[in-house]
Amino acid sequence: MATKSVIRDVNQHVGETVTIGSWIHNKRSSGKIQFLQLRDGTGYIQGVVVKNEVSEQLWEDAKSLTQESSVYVTGVIREEPRSQSGYEMTVTGIEIIHLTENYPITPKEHGVDFLMDHRHLWLRAPKQRAILVIRGEIIRAVQEFFDQNGFTLVDPPILTPTSAEGTTNLFHTKYFDEDAYLTQSGQLYMEAAAMALGKVYSFGPTFRAEKSKTRRHLIEFWMIEPEMAFTDHEESLQIQEQFVTYVVQSVVKKCRAELETLGRDISKLENIKAPFPRITYDDAIKFLQEEGFDIPWGEDFGAPHETAIAEKYDKPVFITHYPAAIKAFYMKPHPDRPEVVLCADMIAPEGYGEIIGGSQRIDDPALLEERFKEHNLSMDTYQWYMDLRTYGTVPHSGFGLGLERTVAWICGLDHVRETIPFPRTLYRLYP
Ligand code: 4AD
Ligand code: MG
Repeated sequence: MATKSVIRDVNQHVGETVTIGSWIHNKRSSGKIQFLQLRDGTGYIQGVVVKNEVSEQLWEDAKSLTQESSVYVTGVIREEPRSQSGYEMTVTGIEIIHLTENYPITPKEHGVDFLMDHRHLWLRAPKQRAILVIRGEIIRAVQEFFDQNGFTLVDPPILTPTSAEGTTNLFHTKYFDEDAYLTQSGQLYMEAAAMALGKVYSFGPTFRAEKSKTRRHLIEFWMIEPEMAFTDHEESLQIQEQFVTYVVQSVVKKCRAELETLGRDISKLENIKAPFPRITYDDAIKFLQEEGFDIPWGEDFGAPHETAIAEKYDKPVFITHYPAAIKAFYMKPHPDRPEVVLCADMIAPEGYGEIIGGSQRIDDPALLEERFKEHNLSMDTYQWYMDLRTYGTVPHSGFGLGLERTVAWICGLDHVRETIPFPRTLYRLYP
């Protein structure tokens, strides 16, 4: 075997003979030449087998290769400006690892249900690969941003005794003799962590037993939840817009090829730079009513409302100061207008919906206790959360970014099911 390489690194081996472990993505032949489209996960390269230049055995081996057969291919790397990758391999050896028969995902069109049933194989498709590469880059950029801005990564628990966002939509399980729920949000625990470490963020899975079958809802999704002590609502909005700018621009810089594979309009992403526009809930309601929507003040927005508002802007928009009655119990009321809270949802452009929900938190112990009563939340289970106000309470804010919705927006996908390797959607737990 010659020096082993991966397709991503062939530019370092021009003129050399290398061996690449790969799969046959596609194949075509022109009688005297066979063109093998090789993929190895890091990229794609064409292997050229010329009949006159190879042994009969090698020629026959090449001929026997089928879609998704696995091989070690050896050959000389050449620059080839006409190919998409810029390189080609002149094949001098093929070691067949496994000949695949009847690969189910052929180059023809397949329905979504069929593809979802074969998700474990569908991941090998160029677009699916591009999405996962971009997802990985988003995660990397998230960690880099918080690292550079003085945040500590903290892991909240997955099994919890109570809910964070409301009492519905929880996955229940037994915890020996007690009841437990899969976490909907790590926020309350992150508030405790912020009082210990100042600026913290979590990155982990969250679960919502929502019976909603939409393009934007997953049952299991990943959330990034920063929480900041001594930080008010306005400061939190500034962090949010810088954060999202950083993540989008990192992807634009590092994943151009993958964005092109997806056919994404990159100029729309290049335009995503802080500051982001803001609109109050009050003004959003007025705007929607003028547009002919039948929505009274006090009602929550649905996807069509969010899309109508987002269409006014070419950047994400903050909708601020929602009515307290439609938001979570922990949000701090506006000092002059207690019927609205110091919160914001960040709505992505181009109809991708809410990607961030956040707020300043109630820091007054008496008010928090009042809220517990209004929401019928048991003081027993939330005693520890009250303690955060009893012992050195401070103004603090935080937010949660939904990873999959962010991936959908950046990749330009019309459904979140393709943004995560193995989506958990309503009625789908396989594979
Ligand atoms: O707006 P949400 O419910 O906010 C919270 O959970 C807060 N505790 C966050 C915080 O302040 N620490 O959820 C935050 C984000 C949403 O904006 C959305 O992007 C995403 O999580 N999200 C979902 N993504 C996919 N599928 C679902 N079912 C989602 N529910 C929320
Ligand atoms: Mg929300």
